[in-house]
Amino acid sequence: MLTIENLTASYGAITALHGISLEVGEGELVALLGSNGAGKSTTLKSICGLLRPGQGAIRFLGEDITGKAPEVILKKGISMVPEGREIFGGLTVEENLRLGAFTSYQRDRYRADLDEMFALFPILKERFTQAGGLLSGGEQQMLAIARALMSHPKLLMLDEPSLGLSPTMTDSIFELISALRDRGTTILLVEQNAERALEIVDRAYLLDTGSIEFSGTPDELKRRVDIASVYFGGEDDGTCEVRL
Ligand SMILES: Nc1ncnc2c1ncn2[C@@H]1O[C@H](COP(=O)(O)OP(=O)(O)O)[C@@H](O)[C@H]1O
Ligand SMILES: [Mg+2]
Repeated sequence: MLTIENLTASYGAITALHGISLEVGEGELVALLGSNGAGKSTTLKSICGLLRPGQGAIRFLGEDITGKAPEVILKKGISMVPEGREIFGGLTVEENLRLGAFTSYQRDRYRADLDEMFALFPILKERFTQAGGLLSGGEQQMLAIARALMSHPKLLMLDEPSLGLSPTMTDSIFELISALRDRGTTILLVEQNAERALEIVDRAYLLDTGSIEFSGTPDELKRRVDIASVYFGGEDDGTCEVRL
């Protein structure tokens, strides 16, 4: 579904991606792991058109989308939940959801889509008319995910959805991601919480200072990593250093 070949990306003189290649197949849940500054967000921003890549190619459903505008890529079916959620705090829950639906707005479908979101996230129904900024961190994350789903993405990309959430809320978010995959959504998940991500994903890539250091199944990754308890431990601070 998504194929990236030898992609480079830079911020001025800083090269953040040194020619990475990765693939996400239809229906797969794939993790992109790596410590802070590894280039995870840069990869997602390059895919959804927020950052113009240097070299390399990004193909989606057989079509070259390298360097296309974000709205074009969104219409093709790639939706991202950005790091830090970035919901509109001054707008209501409904307005946030309506913005997510704007590429595909159809009055009859909008109602049905809302009902589907309420089934997935009952809290959003309760908070429908409230300002997004009044929601808790976890509720805002749910709103951000629901907003992304309103465009009916073929590929959903999540950038650190568990960041800053309580353990209970983190559990809910990981359960939700599994449920979305079970419904058939293809997902590329960026996480620093490698241990939790590896419990639910089909495959994982490990990014280290802008290069893919490993790709494989969670079991293969755990076998390759020295002293799993240390590097995958992450204890309860939600962070995790991953080294090979
Ligand atoms: N807007 C920016 N300007 C300059 N450098 C940046 C910017 N965003 C990210 N970087 C740098 O690019 C590298 C990769 O960052 P990022 O993709 O955000 O990492 P991650 O999401 O894995 O934590 C880091 O060295 C970071 O400092
Ligand atoms: Mg990031």
